[in-house]
Amino acid sequence: MFIVVSMKYDMFIPKLFIGKCLLAFTAFVARWGHYLNLNISVRQKVYLVGGGPGDPDLLTVKAHKLLQKADVVLYDALISPEILNLTNPKALLISVGKRANNHSKKQQEINQLLVKYGKQKRSVVRLKGGDPFIYGRGGEELQALISAGIDFEVVPGITAASGCASYAGIPLTHRDYSQTVMFITAQCRNSEENLDWTSIARKNQTVVVYMGLLKNDVLSQQLIAYGRCPDTPVAVVENGTTSSQRVITGTLGCLTEMVKEHQVISPALMIIGEVVVFARQLDWHPNSQMIQHISKAKPFYELREAV
Ligand SMILES: C[S@@+](CC[C@H](N)C(=O)[O-])C[C@H]1O[C@@H](n2cnc3c(N)ncnc32)[C@H](O)[C@@H]1O
Repeated sequence: MFIVVSMKYDMFIPKLFIGKCLLAFTAFVARWGHYLNLNISVRQKVYLVGGGPGDPDLLTVKAHKLLQKADVVLYDALISPEILNLTNPKALLISVGKRANNHSKKQQEINQLLVKYGKQKRSVVRLKGGDPFIYGRGGEELQALISAGIDFEVVPGITAASGCASYAGIPLTHRDYSQTVMFITAQCRNSEENLDWTSIARKNQTVVVYMGLLKNDVLSQQLIAYGRCPDTPVAVVENGTTSSQRVITGTLGCLTEMVKEHQVISPALMIIGEVVVFARQLDWHPNSQMIQHISKAKPFYELREAV
C-alpha cells in the first residue's frame, strides 16, 4: 500500500520512480514468486535429472521446476509421455532412448549432444528414468561435461527398486526377514559369471535385479547354486508405478517359467527374498494387477502367508 501511494508522488522524479518499481517487483517476487515458479534460479548449465520410475507424481519438485524452465531436454526411452507433457512447451525435446539390444543412440553420441547443447549456454535437462546414478550411466555423462568444461548439477530421482517395491506393497527390508538389500544388474559389461554370487546369495537379504529379464535363467540357476533356496519368494514387477503395473509372484525355482508363461515385457524388475510375501497383504495400488504364479513343476505350491 505504502509503495503504491508513494509511487503516485514520485511519478515526476524518474529515478525514484524506477527504484520504487524495482522494490515493488522484488517484494512481489519474494511474496508470490513461488506460486508463479519465479524464484527458482535456473542457471544456464546441464542438469542431470532423475525422472523416477514412471508415475509422473513421483517426480521431485525440483525436477518439475527444471523441466518447466528448460530450453533443451534430452530424454531416455523410459520417460513417459505424461512427464514430457510437463516440460516447457518451447523446449527442444530430443529422444536419446536406449533399450537393451536396441540402442537408438550410442553413449558417445549422447555425450556429444550434451556437450553441444551445454556449450550453447542454455538450460539443458538430461532426463533419465529412475535415478541417474543407479544403472543410468550418469557418471559417464558428467565426466564428458567436465572434460568440456561445462557446468552441471545432479537432481536425484526415485529409483525403480524403491518405486516398484512401494507400489507392489513389498517392504525391501523388514527387521525379521531382511536386513540388507542389494541392487544388481544382469546387464554387465563383463560376463555375469564375474559377479560375486556368494554375497548376492546371502540369506536374509533382498536382491533387486535391474535389466534381468533376458538373463532370468542364469540368475535363478546361480542363486540356487550358491545356496539360496529354490522356494525363496520372487516378484517380477512389470511397468512398475504406472497404470499398467503387473506384479507376478512365485519362487526362485520357477522364475524362468513365470517370465515365460506371463509373457513379461520390459521394463521389469525382479525382487528376490522373503519380503516378497508381504505383497499379498500390503498390495494397495488400485491399478496393479497381482498374479500369483502356480508352478507347473510344483502345482500345489503356495507362497507362505505373510506374518
Ligand atoms: C537402464 S536401467 C535404469 C534404471 C534407473 N536409472 C533407475 O534408477 O531406476 C533400466 C531398468 O530399470 C528397471 N526399471 C526401470 N523402470 C521400471 C519400471 N517402471 N518398472 C519396472 N522396472 C523398471 C528395469 O529393470 C529396466 O530394465
